[in-house]
Parts: sequence; C-alpha cells; structure tokens
Amino acid sequence: MKIVEVRHPLIRHKLGLMRRAGISTKEFRELASEVAALLTYEATKDLETVEEPIQGWAGPLQVHRIKGKKITIVPILRAGLGMLPGVLDMIPSAKVSVVGVQRDERTLQPVAYYEKLSGRMDERIALIVDPMLATAGTLIAAVDMLKAAGCRRIKGLFLVAAPEGLERIEAVHPDIEIYTAAIDERLNEHGYILPGLGDAGDKIFGTK
Ligand code: PRP
Ligand code: URA
Repeated sequence: MKIVEVRHPLIRHKLGLMRRAGISTKEFRELASEVAALLTYEATKDLETVEEPIQGWAGPLQVHRIKGKKITIVPILRAGLGMLPGVLDMIPSAKVSVVGVQRDERTLQPVAYYEKLSGRMDERIALIVDPMLATAGTLIAAVDMLKAAGCRRIKGLFLVAAPEGLERIEAVHPDIEIYTAAIDERLNEHGYILPGLGDAGDKIFGTK
C-alpha cells in the first residue's frame, strides 16, 4: 500500500503552528486549507497528461493537459470541508462528491448519513479529504461508498494519521493511496490522536 508522509518544510512548519493550544478558529482554518493545497500538489504528482496543440503567442505549440475525466474531491463531513478550499485552489475545475460519516463518540464506530457523488465515478480519480485518520473507521466507510459507486482510483489526504488507523486501512483497502502531513504516535483511550490536533472539526467550525 502507498502511504506517503509528506515531509516538506512548509508542511511541517504549518502543522507545527496548528498544534498550538488555544489557536484561533481563523488561523486553524487558514492553515488546514494551506496544508491541504500542499498535500494536493504531492498527491497529484503521478497524474497522466496528454499533449494538445494550441496557438501560442509566437506560433503553434504542444502543451500538456491532464488526461481523462475531471478529478472528484471527496470531503468527509464535517471536518473535511476545512480542507476543501485548499484542494480547490490547486484543482479549480474539480468536481466535488460530498460524503457524510460521523464517528460515534462512545463506540468510535462510523455512522454514514449522507452521500452525493459526481457522475461517472468509475472514470474519475477520487481525492478523499479529512483532517484526521484515527481508527480508520470513517475512511473505510467512505471508501466502501466510493467503491460501491464504481470508483477504482482513490487517494486520501489527511493532516494527521495514527499508526493504528494506517494498519487497519492497509488490511481492509490496500489498493488506495494515503498522503498525510504527519504520522503521529498513537491513539489515546478515547480514540484521539496523540499528539494530534485535538478535535479538528471543532477547531475548524469553532464549536465547543
Ligand atoms: C473526525 C475526523 C474523521 C474521523 C476520524 O470526524 O474528521 O472524520 O473523526 O476518526 P476515525 O478514523 O476513528 O473514524 P468526526 O466524526 O468527529 O466528525 P466531525 O467531522 O463532525 O468533527
Ligand atoms: N477526530 C478528531 O477530530 N481528532 C482526533 O484526534 C481523532 C478523531
């Protein structure tokens, strides 16, 4: 399975800022979006391009265009919405497929409650975006939905991933790719990532 911890200095710097206790909603939101843009750059490195002829300012030339149907970005409600602007900054013409999966705070089990996918999922690359990959229950539920719709190429972009979740997703869906700004130490007894970011959804939306 392809798991990439993107160890770029800009990502490390920005993620370090996000880990500070007492960070404002505004700053957390801005940084989540900026790191998402940098992860997108890394996760799209292997996209295929086709050459096409255009008229340039000094005459005809061949340029590159991304091959195939447009990418679909898949933000997982709710916290994934915080990464969506940064991904769209990099791929402004992407389609967006929204998936709602919530982790039950007591059992940590995922509850899928919403799905609105782009058409022709079988022809698109899906970029799942969610700040946290903890037990991986949420990610597994989202990948199940995308595969049921015919999607065959799935990449997941995360701000922080836990080793326990990575092991689990590798066992259940080894064919997807993971790009994360950090692989942290472990989960605590409540399923939160340590040192992590705390509750990413609450920090993005200013709740609690
Ligand atoms: C958080 C996070 C992931 C999920 C990760 O969302 O954004 O979606 O938990 O946990 P898991 O890997 O153990 O499933 P949450 O369910 O808290 O909802 P929210 O987006 O509304 O904050
Ligand atoms: N969800 C979060 O928001 N944070 C965690 O550490 C784990 C799940």
